[in-house]
Parts: sequence; structure tokens; C-alpha cells
Amino acid sequence: MDSYEVQLASYPDDAVEAKDFFVTTAEVPPLGEGQVLVRLRRLGLNAGMANRIGGPDTAYGPGISIGDVPASDGVVEVLESRSDAFSTGDLAVRKSPWRGVDVADSNELRPIAALEEGVALEAHLTVLGHVGFTAYTGMMRFGSVDAQDTVYISGAAGGVGSCAVQFAKAVGATVIGSAGTPAKVQLLKELGADTAFNYHDGGALDLLRAAAPDGIDLFYDNVGGEQLEAALESLRFRGRIVICGAASQYGKAGERRGPANYMAMIHQQLTMRGFDVTNNEDLRHDFETDATRWLKAGKVRSVHTILDGFEKIPEAFAALLSGGNTGRMIVNCEH
Ligand SMILES: NC(=O)c1ccc[n+]([C@@H]2O[C@H](COP(=O)([O-])OP(=O)(O)OC[C@H]3O[C@@H](n4cnc5c(N)ncnc54)[C@H](OP(=O)(O)O)[C@@H]3O)[C@@H](O)[C@H]2O)c1
Repeated sequence: MDSYEVQLASYPDDAVEAKDFFVTTAEVPPLGEGQVLVRLRRLGLNAGMANRIGGPDTAYGPGISIGDVPASDGVVEVLESRSDAFSTGDLAVRKSPWRGVDVADSNELRPIAALEEGVALEAHLTVLGHVGFTAYTGMMRFGSVDAQDTVYISGAAGGVGSCAVQFAKAVGATVIGSAGTPAKVQLLKELGADTAFNYHDGGALDLLRAAAPDGIDLFYDNVGGEQLEAALESLRFRGRIVICGAASQYGKAGERRGPANYMAMIHQQLTMRGFDVTNNEDLRHDFETDATRWLKAGKVRSVHTILDGFEKIPEAFAALLSGGNTGRMIVNCEH
């Protein structure tokens, strides 16, 4: 049986372009015991993968060389199974090579529920996917968010941030979000944020004080740096900080900015807690139950840009890197 795959064709001169990849046919090997034949239905793309092109292996995946087939998370459908765990027609999420039909070991697949009304396939790569689970874990388990809280979320229009905004609103909290463009600020308002600001419009502390004159109870941080320092000044007594990420500090080894004002933690009796989502699988059932209920009730939605056609994967990836998307970039590989 023949399939199609996307290979890296050349190392980018500067920014990654669609022409750095090409689509070619691929032979599908016979199915072994414990394996499944799967068809890729939706593929989610991550900007961070660009850092691995022509580079070394990192904690997020292997370096990508010419001729390699990159992989990112996708929703697949089982076409044929030699595993007791899966039957034909089952749906699953998988770290999927950019390949239309593929053979996978069944233990690489995480099953997802059959499609229900109000739950689109794309949602399994956004609010019901890894970014959603990260936001839920940070917001619920480590942030203990509740309806009385005023929550500030940095990087709020990103994959994790857009879920964090919606989940905090779903439990009734007051939400302030920050992002880096007017379009993203508008998106935050559409997602239900009570206040949203563009962090390029002034000093982070001034902007946060204007957004939350009475202070905040919880800071969900994706970004670090100046916004973390601003939050430390704005947190009320016994306020909480959840450190999810530090996007403003990545790639700055040696000149990273820590919070110079961390002593606010003493006077205000604050707690600051970092977390790694991978150690929280015991929370997955609660996450799937809550997020699916919120999705069906219209309290949360999948934030994504979708391109139709497997052959659009290179174009979608290049567009992602030049800001051509709102929310998660997803390719519908069925066309
Ligand atoms: N703890 C965990 O287990 C876990 C799991 C997954 C992800 N993470 C982390 O969570 C964070 C969000 O992940 P994601 O998938 O949502 O990534 P993402 O979609 O790329 O969002 C990150 C956001 O950071 C903002 N940003 C980038 N550079 C910035 C800067 N210099 N100053 C201010 N904002 C900046 C960007 O927003 P603007 O375009 O609006 O500037 C971007 O939307 C990342 O730091 C990631 O490493 C942690």
C-alpha cells in the first residue's frame, strides 16, 4: 500500500518556507502483532519545531535533517488493527509523522471518545488536547482557581493561554489577559476575558494596575520577565503564582531576567509554584469530563486556524512561523 509523507527538502536560509519541504509517496510496511494501521485526519503544528530543523535533539523531540519526516500531534483513525486495544474506526491522538497512512505501535496511541455532537475533531488538538490539559492542570490543580478570584494570564492568546482564559471563565473567575498584538487582544475579549491588554502598549506594571486597580489573586504565567515582576507587585495578600512557562526568557541563557522584587512574597505571603504537566496523568479524567462538558455547553471553544489538504502541511507550517494563524494551526488531512 502507498501513502504520502512530507520530508524536509532543504535547510532554511532564514525563515522556514513551504519550499523547504516536499510531499512524496511512501510505502506502508505490513502490520505486525500489536500494531495498527492509521489514517491521519487532523495534524496540529508547533512553531517550536523550527528550532529542531538542522539542529540537535532536544527534550521536545529529535533534530530534523534533510529527508526526515517531522512529527507532531495528530488525530488518527484506525483502519486496521492487530492489537486488542483498538478496533477499526477507533479514533486516537498520536505524535504523528507527517504521513497520510502509517503503521503505529498501539501503545503510541491515546484513544479518544467517539465523536459526539458539539465536539469537533480539532478540539482534540486544542481545548481537549495537550495545551488544554496543561492549562487545566495549572489553573485547577496548582492555581486552585475559583469564582471569587481575579486571575491574570500572560501569553493569554497562545495555545495554553487561550485555554487558561476560557477555563478560568468557565468556573466564574474574573480574567485579565495580556497578548502582543491588537488582534490577539480582540481574540481574548471574544473568549470572555473581562479585560485584555497589549503588553507592548506600556510598562507591564502600569498596564496591569490599570486593568486590575484592586489587585489580583492568581497569576498564571506563560511568559516570565517583566510581567512576572508586575504580577508580584499586584498580588493581594496570600495571592498565588503558577509558573507554566517563561516564553520571554527562552534562548537567553546567561542573561535571563528573574523577578528582582521577589521579596514581595514575604510581605504579602505569596506562593509561587511551578509544574510539569506530564506528572499529572491522574487528573486527565477530570480534565476530559470538565472540558468536554464546557465545550458542549458552549462555555469554551477550540481556537484554531485550519487549512484543508495534506499537501498544505508545508504551507501551514511556514504560515505558523510568520504569524498567519489565530490559535493552533491545524491541517485537515482528509481532503
Ligand atoms: N509546564 C508545562 O508542563 C508546560 C506544558 C506546555 C507548555 N508549557 C509552556 O507554556 C507556555 C505556553 O505554551 P504554548 O504552547 O501556549 O505556546 P505559544 O502558543 O507559543 O504561546 C506562548 C506565548 O508567549 C508569548 N510570548 C513569546 N515571547 C514573548 C515575549 N518576549 N514577551 C511576552 N510574551 C511572549 C507569545 O504571545 P504574543 O504573541 O502575544 O506575544 C505566545 O503566544 C510556553 O512557555 C511553554 O513552554 C509548559
